Amino acid sequence: MVMHNNGLFITGTDTGVGKTVITAGLLGALRRRGTNAIAIKPIQSGGILRENQLISEDAYFYGAVTDLPYTSRELNPICLQPSLAPAVAAEIEGVTLNLETMLDHFLKISAEHQLTLVEGAGGLMVPLVSTGVTVADLAVRMNLPLLVVARPNLGTINHTCLTVAYAKARGLKVAGIIINMYDHHNSGVAERTNPGLIETMTGVPILGLVPMVEGLTVEGENPQPGDLITLIENYVDVDQLLKTLNHEIF
Ligand SMILES: Nc1ncnc2c1ncn2[C@@H]1O[C@H](COP(=O)(O)OP(=O)(O)OP(=O)(O)O)[C@@H](O)[C@H]1O
Ligand SMILES: [Mg+2]
Repeated sequence: MVMHNNGLFITGTDTGVGKTVITAGLLGALRRRGTNAIAIKPIQSGGILRENQLISEDAYFYGAVTDLPYTSRELNPICLQPSLAPAVAAEIEGVTLNLETMLDHFLKISAEHQLTLVEGAGGLMVPLVSTGVTVADLAVRMNLPLLVVARPNLGTINHTCLTVAYAKARGLKVAGIIINMYDHHNSGVAERTNPGLIETMTGVPILGLVPMVEGLTVEGENPQPGDLITLIENYVDVDQLLKTLNHEIF
């Protein structure tokens, strides 16, 4: 069995599916259990300029949900302003990106913490450093199992199965799938049947169906997480995830 590093790489079937919400909520749940888990966003594009500093709203949100300070560049070492794929944003800004630097940062952080959650950018095939170096390459180099965040509605079977198939083709282990923004009360036939079909077709466990919560926002100067940690504890099988991770890591 391949031993992984002590963490989890959170990817999604697309941008905007809820990677940050799930990462921050899981982080809070893991810290509530007494671990010193941390979350990092190795590269943020679409950074927000606030008081002359580029802010990663994703990493800022990890701080809004937990007591982790968003001060140094620890939670987000690289932040680019254009809201584009990182490789494209970097080219526009004239910034040279380096996979080794991202890896060094991760190894330093993960040596100091029991678990490091790493949020990717967009999905696995997003160009990260160049068209030839994608988010999947970062996950491979970090040697982390994946968590895939997916949306609940029509079309998600295809996106989720493709993501898992590509992950497996790249030798990545997929620890679980979380379906986000799931409507437990008014779901149609697609929403009701998708989780079971995805589980059967991928062979990867669905670890949670996380509902849409009114008012929850990642973006802006005052992000509104509400009681996100309790939401994750109620709707995600954190025990099962930890069991899988312990099995993969130790
Ligand atoms: N369960 C939820 N309930 C309500 N709103 C949600 C939920 N999950 C995500 N959102 C909202 O959807 C938007 C996108 O979510 P999020 O930022 O977590 O996506 P992402 O996959 O991290 O996107 P990116 O690729 O930009 O990093 C945010 O405004 C967030 O507040
Ligand atoms: Mg995000």
